[in-house]
Amino acid sequence: MLSVVYGAGLSGLDGFLITIECSGQRNLPALNIVGLPDLAVREAKERIRAAADNSGLPIPEMELILNLAPADKRKEGSSLDLSMLVSILQCGGIIPREIGMRDKCFLGELSLSGEVRKIRGVLNMTLCAKEAGIKEIYVPVENAAEAAAVEGITVYGTPSVRALVDHLKGEDPLAAAVPIVPDFADFAGGVDFSEVRGQAQAKRAMEIAAAGAHNLLLVGPPGSGKSMLAKRFPTIMPPLSFAESVEITKIHSVAGTLESGSGLITQRPFRAPHHTMSAPSLVGGGKIPTPGELALAHGGVLFLDELPEYPRIVTESLRQPLEDGAVTITRAAGRCTFPCRVTMIAAMNPCPCGNHGSGQQPCTCSTEMRHRYLAKISGPLLDRIDMHIRVSAVSFSEMSDTTPGESSAAIRERVIRAREFAARRFAGVTPVPNGALSPAQTREMCTPDAAGLSVMKMAMEKLGLSARGYDRLLRVARTIADLAGSETVTASHVAEAIQMRSLDRDMT
Ligand SMILES: Nc1ncnc2c1ncn2[C@@H]1O[C@H](COP(=O)(O)OP(=O)(O)O)[C@@H](O)[C@H]1O
Ligand SMILES: [Mg+2]
Repeated sequence: MLSVVYGAGLSGLDGFLITIECSGQRNLPALNIVGLPDLAVREAKERIRAAADNSGLPIPEMELILNLAPADKRKEGSSLDLSMLVSILQCGGIIPREIGMRDKCFLGELSLSGEVRKIRGVLNMTLCAKEAGIKEIYVPVENAAEAAAVEGITVYGTPSVRALVDHLKGEDPLAAAVPIVPDFADFAGGVDFSEVRGQAQAKRAMEIAAAGAHNLLLVGPPGSGKSMLAKRFPTIMPPLSFAESVEITKIHSVAGTLESGSGLITQRPFRAPHHTMSAPSLVGGGKIPTPGELALAHGGVLFLDELPEYPRIVTESLRQPLEDGAVTITRAAGRCTFPCRVTMIAAMNPCPCGNHGSGQQPCTCSTEMRHRYLAKISGPLLDRIDMHIRVSAVSFSEMSDTTPGESSAAIRERVIRAREFAARRFAGVTPVPNGALSPAQTREMCTPDAAGLSVMKMAMEKLGLSARGYDRLLRVARTIADLAGSETVTASHVAEAIQMRSLDRDMT
């Protein structure tokens, strides 16, 4: 007696289909699993037996062999429980043999009572099942909404193995999951730029950062609104496209950070890992590589508050991924790459006591202490930050002013228009935001006019900009021109870009 059922596994962000064959021999009762299962899959035996017993679905009294194919790929975790039990039940005739399994796929972990528990990576595995021609997929109820985002495959949220068997036999059909229509324009975060008082230059810098996907550092005393500004940054970034949303949701599904019952992610991520975090939690890792904070921020914001407090090993491990927009994890079991195109926003106090230049409290730090503090973030990481902005404490008159500031929606409109304006420079090729232009593209697209160039020259001489810093300045100036709808980068655009690099002045 033989049955064949499909399940799925994960390799990095990609799902792959797994064939589960079950063969039963008249012999002493036994259950063996072959085909490169890991410990969790081997342990499934005990869960499967208990789940079957407690659901009133007897496991056939035979010598059963479960074979997982392809045999060369490691099968991990507990997501194969359901497909293995279905395979056994059909082998034993509990699920009638006439019920075709060729177009069905089963995903889920089993509890001892036979409930189907939520698992990670359901969206990813549903995408691969659909590609492989599967027509019906059975997933844990809590994962049904993410699976339903995939078009062209019918999704059934499956509460228990008993409910599944009743459905397959046509006795008590399950309802197919209805996809949630994603609303990308909605600000579900509930925060808005209109709540931020004053801070005109910081808001302007954020608009530029959103328009060109530039990294930004906010320097100011505690309580000046740095965290408040950073949290609102995703609301002025361009809305997600469907493809971006799928890419982001896949990462969060694999990481297990997707909320139960949620469909596609509609808001750009905002991740704020604390400075006590380890380098692996930033880049991702584990025996089975899972995405870290960098990948979880993909398409959105990575916020590093109190930047000088981050250990050097952590900031160093940021450099390459920020440059490449991807992070690669190498393990004995293989390599996997997660995308991490993020806008990095960092915040810091201007000095150890936090009051330098605040204009309100006197600073108690010596010049040397202040320089040592700034030096903690100097060098390669600072080189990757396009703009550094001073924020000062909000004045009483600004705080007591009740007229609302400009809304996120209004700023986002300008950001979208600037991105569209910039996209016209990429005849035929996929546009990249200005912040991600290559050195050659920077020369080609961002070179200012003659007056702009002489302002650049002055800045180079006075601020001692590095070659990288020079390119960053050009790209920010290009974005400022895009916001103004100007084909040429002029002296005033360059001058404003220089204004947005306040630390260059502080450090000299
Ligand atoms: N510019 C501002 N406009 C409105 N409220 C502000 C502003 N700056 C600070 N606040 C208030 O002060 C609180 C602390 O600000 P926060 O963003 O945490 O400051 P920081 O991160 O610079 O220390 C905010 O939650 C907010 O209520
Ligand atoms: Mg803060």
